[in-house]
Amino acid sequence: MNKDFLSISDWSVEDLEKIFTLTAELKQKQKEGTPHRLLEGQTLGMIFEKSSTRTRISFEVGMYQLGGHALFLHSGNTQMGRGEPIKDTARVMARYCDGIMIRTFSHAVVEEFAQHSYVPIVNGLTDLCHPCQVMADLFTVIEHKQDYRNLKYCWIGDGNNMANSWINAAATFGFELRVATPANYQPNAEVIAKARQAGVKLLLTADPREAAAGADVLNTDVWASMGQEAEQLEREQAFKGFQINSDLLKLAAPEAVVMHCLPAHRDEEITDEVMEGPQSIIFDEAENRLHVQKAILATLMAR
Ligand code: CP
Ligand code: NVA
Repeated sequence: MNKDFLSISDWSVEDLEKIFTLTAELKQKQKEGTPHRLLEGQTLGMIFEKSSTRTRISFEVGMYQLGGHALFLHSGNTQMGRGEPIKDTARVMARYCDGIMIRTFSHAVVEEFAQHSYVPIVNGLTDLCHPCQVMADLFTVIEHKQDYRNLKYCWIGDGNNMANSWINAAATFGFELRVATPANYQPNAEVIAKARQAGVKLLLTADPREAAAGADVLNTDVWASMGQEAEQLEREQAFKGFQINSDLLKLAAPEAVVMHCLPAHRDEEITDEVMEGPQSIIFDEAENRLHVQKAILATLMAR
């Protein structure tokens, strides 16, 4: 088992499936009010260089429910924000904390942290990937469809961190994924190359209808991610037609489900009607961040 949780592709299917099994157990315990203090007395340091609602709250609440404690650190209020080297911050934090979660821009930052920290590092989103989110997404699919296997998945929109993590997941778990992006907004080339080497069943297209045809799971995300706000207008032009709406949904399998990691821009990448409609499992998906991350933390940190 890996010491850190930086990317889905660093993990084996067996170990990831154990996380899903533990997630179901912990979710059940939390719902029935049974204590599950697997991380009694432990502390998770959480560094945020970007905004967050779900990630911050779900990790913080999750640590509390596991009997531990979480520290919210905005990088701008730490010495990191004044240029203290990552390798020094990592070594110091590892002496106080039992695990560290980081949300940042460059993926190299979480890798450098992991290299210098002897406590586990969890990726809470980088520009490259968002593995905790896609684990929560897959757990939500399992809840709604009984299994994640033998389903057709599609991604409509930007080839961003979420799209990259879905490609990593398709390669690792072996399911079929179709990704529709405008030609200039394809997912990360190295992620694609590595997934192809692993034999991924991946279709890249610029036609959202081709991606959505017969799909069981439709997924999208904002057109301008954190850090790309200045490109919003240009992206609105480029992504016209890459919207999950009722017309696109009609092309999918009759029982298809719709997902979005949130926050959403309603009536841009997804219509309000679809978000609020019967096929949306978006708020179950948001809830499952809590349960899946508790399982990830317990897997990495339990003594
Ligand atoms: N989906 C997600 O990571 O949400 P936040 O940005 O609110 O943490
Ligand atoms: N792609 C989005 C995901 C937010 C959870 C971003 O990086 O801003």
